Amino acid sequence: MTVRKSQATLSSDEKRAFTNALLELKRTGVYDRFVATHNAFLRTDSDFGDRVGHRCPSFLPWHRRFLLDFEAELQKVDPKVSLPYWDWTVDRTPASSLWGPDFLGGTGRPLDGQVLDGPFAYSGRRWNITVGVDRHAFLRRSLGAGGAQLPTKAEVNAVLDMPEYDTAPWNSSSGGFRNHLEGWRGAGLHNRVHVWVGGHMGTAASPNDPVFWMHHAFVDMLWAEWQRRHPKSAYLPAAATPNVVDLRRPMRPWNNVTPADMLDHRRFYTFDTEGPAPHRP
Ligand code: CU
Ligand code: CU
Repeated sequence: MTVRKSQATLSSDEKRAFTNALLELKRTGVYDRFVATHNAFLRTDSDFGDRVGHRCPSFLPWHRRFLLDFEAELQKVDPKVSLPYWDWTVDRTPASSLWGPDFLGGTGRPLDGQVLDGPFAYSGRRWNITVGVDRHAFLRRSLGAGGAQLPTKAEVNAVLDMPEYDTAPWNSSSGGFRNHLEGWRGAGLHNRVHVWVGGHMGTAASPNDPVFWMHHAFVDMLWAEWQRRHPKSAYLPAAATPNVVDLRRPMRPWNNVTPADMLDHRRFYTFDTEGPAPHRP
């Protein structure tokens, strides 16, 4: 069973195994297929039309499945690897070991945002951007540009306390837990982290930056924590609703994956903060 750990607790060997698996998926082209899928969905999800990955109730189950597919590809390369999560309420500065040259590398240079160190630096020739938004093939970041701050634990707790999963009109103007966690309302949680990292993370092609997976692994963990705090609250909408995915409807691009299938993460993995999954017959 896969255990997802905090990136802050990884050993040097675990960091190397993770970044090596990323580089291998990049080399074979598998990585960029994931970037292209995310890019396509972010560009077509819209508040008043069909939406499945973003601005809608299925934001959380969609990304859970997207991460599971990606983690399965990593594990084909190295079965010991799992997706680490980045708790940005704790590891909240560009000086965090997350951004060290032995892990993700640091912020980009002021001139053009190019990441200069670590395994994903352009000079290493192993991380060319092919699904992007501009003419540059290098990974870009601008950590905390303009004095921006990452969300705090208090801001996260306020959102985890919200009892309702989502509300009409089921888009970026909704109330409820999902839209506040996604960050279109309130303190801006998930969206604000994309902006704080900047560069590619601030675009539809955000998975170009490997920190995407660790950010979303933490957002996914917050969903699990919300479920634990609100055992009587359910995924909404429960039944057919225009333009959005209800509990039992399949989510594109998969043919047979519904939000209901994604509700219990313990079918797939546990977090290092919780015990082993209960036995399932
Ligand atoms: Cu996304
Ligand atoms: Cu995101």
